[in-house]
Amino acid sequence: MSSAQPDFDLRDRSIMITGANRGIGAALCQTILQYSPKIIHATYRSEPGELDDPRVRWCPLDLRTPETLARLAESVGELDVLINNAGILLPTATDPAEEHANLVAMMQVHLHGPLQLVDILLPALQRSQHPMVVNVISMSAFVNVAGCEAYCTSKAALHSATQGLRVKYPNIRCVGVYPGPTATDMTAGSAVTLADPADSAGAIIAGMIDGESSIFPDPAARAVESVIGASVTALEAQFAGLLVE
Ligand SMILES: NC(=O)c1ccc[n+]([C@@H]2O[C@H](COP(=O)([O-])OP(=O)(O)OC[C@H]3O[C@@H](n4cnc5c(N)ncnc54)[C@H](OP(=O)(O)O)[C@@H]3O)[C@@H](O)[C@H]2O)c1
Repeated sequence: MSSAQPDFDLRDRSIMITGANRGIGAALCQTILQYSPKIIHATYRSEPGELDDPRVRWCPLDLRTPETLARLAESVGELDVLINNAGILLPTATDPAEEHANLVAMMQVHLHGPLQLVDILLPALQRSQHPMVVNVISMSAFVNVAGCEAYCTSKAALHSATQGLRVKYPNIRCVGVYPGPTATDMTAGSAVTLADPADSAGAIIAGMIDGESSIFPDPAARAVESVIGASVTALEAQFAGLLVE
């Protein structure tokens, strides 16, 4: 989706990627290394990833445990790019109490955790000349899907929060990424066509460098973009000045 933002260079940047030990996060990490970053703060919850490179610093982070967020922020000096990628997909439960607990968990990992990270890392981001926050959302932010209603709800919340960050912090580039089904542990056993995470990571990084504000990194996502993409951008621009004197 087009944007008026200038092009961006990842060379010598300090970058944080949450959930970098596997899936799309690991593919993003691999891809970014090709662009000569200064350092990647690569977070994991359970086990560090396999990538062994002096520019990759593995850091523990559990978005459901606030102390780990604060500890992580303390250990980061400069930061140019925060990529909120970590996610969980808890399928719809039939028991309402369990389903509510699932929603709470996914809202923490997909909404509250990423926003808390932005808050905690704001001083470091604001010291950067080209600060950027990239939220890995999902095409399901735009359409709720049977079997994972709470997941889609939490991703719709992150989509709205991403627009909110753009309003709140006009000096920080805030990018929404809307992948379609992608071949990671999250989709294991799925019968639908799955995008290759390396291809998606390439498209995400290309979009970041090209100055895109919304990135639809695979064919299924681009089919969604062709239906709603331009109108979402137009609406966001139209409402940008509403209620602001
Ligand atoms: N795969 C898809 O089809 C698809 C489509 C659209 C959007 N997405 C989104 O893309 C992002 C990456 O998904 P993926 O497919 O790569 O998933 P994945 O392979 O299941 O990996 C999920 C990552 O998130 C981390 N994580 C989970 N819970 C966490 C927590 N509480 N705190 C910190 N980190 C946590 C995991 O760490 P551990 O390994 O330590 O558990 C792992 O690194 C997610 O936001 C997902 O919603 C995925």
